[in-house]
Amino acid sequence: MKFFVDTADTAEIRDLAETGLLDGVTTNPSLVHKAGRDFLEVVKEICGIVPGPVSAEVVALDHESMMREAEVLRKIADNIAVKVPLTVDGLKTCRKLTADGTMVNVTLCFSANQALLAAKAGATFVSPFVGRHDDVGYPGMELIADIRLIYDNYDFPTEILVASVRSPIHVHDAAKIGADVMTAPPAVIRQLFKHPLTDNGLKAFLADWEKTGQKIG
Ligand code: E4P
Repeated sequence: MKFFVDTADTAEIRDLAETGLLDGVTTNPSLVHKAGRDFLEVVKEICGIVPGPVSAEVVALDHESMMREAEVLRKIADNIAVKVPLTVDGLKTCRKLTADGTMVNVTLCFSANQALLAAKAGATFVSPFVGRHDDVGYPGMELIADIRLIYDNYDFPTEILVASVRSPIHVHDAAKIGADVMTAPPAVIRQLFKHPLTDNGLKAFLADWEKTGQKIG
């Protein structure tokens, strides 16, 4: 499963990229607002940090205006994935952009039928939001399992990008289902490395090593 980080904070992205485990980045208008920086400038910087797909979202609602914004975004770098909402105009834009060889991430997906439409529109990625589903009392992971089944039934190449990830449990469940990608906030990615038994075990090993009085090299 590919790991994308869901942030527009370039310091966080640089830090996580150093682990060598980061495959891409997702941003959205709310994350850009939080970063407090010029959108095009920050996206360009991110594209230079991570060679994998960097999602940058259009904000227009009609197809023609989306295409105009996408033109600006896709010129930023070769690793831009234009993010479009799961609407009729968004999917029209998706079809046009992917036919031209541009990566497209169809976002705000909340049903398996919407994911089916995104795949038929040639989306590179579809982003079902699990956390927001959980928030309203619907088990978000069931949606991921349904989409996996449907995409496998028809060999759709669209990658399932599990979004709105809120905890390591989401990551674990998404991997068991066979999602292609997950995008999570930096704090959740950092939590994945952690286990109290790892910390305790390391402490005990180092204490015993100290008693041997030896050194390596
Ligand atoms: C990613 O592409 C989404 O925009 C993001 O994961 C949404 O997460 P949230 O529901 O925590 O805002």
